[in-house]
Amino acid sequence: MAVELTFHGHASFTLRGGGATLLLDPFFTDNPLADVSADSVEADYILVSHGHGDHFGDTVAIARRTGATVISNFEIATYCENQGLKAHALHLGGGWEFPFGRVKLTIAHHGSTLPDGSPGGNPAGFLLEIEGKRIYFAGDTGLFYDMKLIGEEKPIDVALLPIGDNFTMGPDDALRAVGLLSPRLVIPMHYGTWPLVEQDPHAFAKRVEEMEVRCSVLPPGRKLTLQAA
Ligand code: NI
Ligand code: MN
Repeated sequence: MAVELTFHGHASFTLRGGGATLLLDPFFTDNPLADVSADSVEADYILVSHGHGDHFGDTVAIARRTGATVISNFEIATYCENQGLKAHALHLGGGWEFPFGRVKLTIAHHGSTLPDGSPGGNPAGFLLEIEGKRIYFAGDTGLFYDMKLIGEEKPIDVALLPIGDNFTMGPDDALRAVGLLSPRLVIPMHYGTWPLVEQDPHAFAKRVEEMEVRCSVLPPGRKLTLQAA
């Protein structure tokens, strides 16, 4: 058994493992980097970190077509239920054992209004445990020192970290996040989508590797297999 991770550009990922397909922050329509479309992508669960359009994205259309369950904070889960979708609400610091594994909501320093102006609750990150692999998806956030607590809980196999600057951490703070989290592998995200978040991910990767932590820059559509521990 192994967990398979695919990057779709911006902050969108597919994770396959634990017998399920998870979509993280499915932003495909209007995402110039997307390698998949909202009308064909598969999902059993859709994890939404916050309400902004580049993260909530195509959630409603995909959940409606696939019957996927939306996992998000209480406000976004309620918004989805009001649209007739299945949802599971979590909140910051809380986790739940799903059939595929565990999801815990972590803090993120950011905003969260939904595209129609509805309140999107507090923004979040996700700490996932699937088939023994721990994956930390930071969401949109600035650097925060409590990342140290997230890294101390149990070793993190993969950390998905924003590096775009302007709306989230830039490369310098993302590098400090790597120091706090001590993950085995870093995958940069939230860059290159628009001029405001243009960054050189390879320059960032080189600096991460200088800290003796592996870093993979994934082009959209690239799959990465995380072998079971
Ligand atoms: Ni955002
Ligand atoms: Mn964003």
